[in-house]
Amino acid sequence: MANDPPLFYARHIFMCTNVRPDGHPRGCCMARAAAGGGVEKLRAYLREKARAAGVENIRANAAGCLDRCEFGPNMVIYPEGVWYRYETAEDVDEIVQKHLVEGGRVERLMLHPDQVPPKH
Ligand code: FES
Repeated sequence: MANDPPLFYARHIFMCTNVRPDGHPRGCCMARAAAGGGVEKLRAYLREKARAAGVENIRANAAGCLDRCEFGPNMVIYPEGVWYRYETAEDVDEIVQKHLVEGGRVERLMLHPDQVPPKH
């Protein structure tokens, strides 16, 4: 049994910021998030909303490709290992409230284990 140290962050959130050229067969999270204001704007928004809701000790990092591009824009929250597809500020509101504040899940936005990218 591992004797791991306590979590450094209560939750560590990775939000894909990978960019691919237009027309790439896999697309990318940056392009898919554009209609909702873009990944960076939504990442800043998530941090603000979490802070305003009193959620402490989280980190929301810009991440490289998480390799589930076809289902993005993606974020994954650890230590739970729960993935979400989010597009709008309203999606982020729901993730902050239900997941980060209440410890629940936003079922309608969750990626499931059978959502795997095609072989590439
Ligand atoms: S481009 Fe975001 S998961 Fe690959």
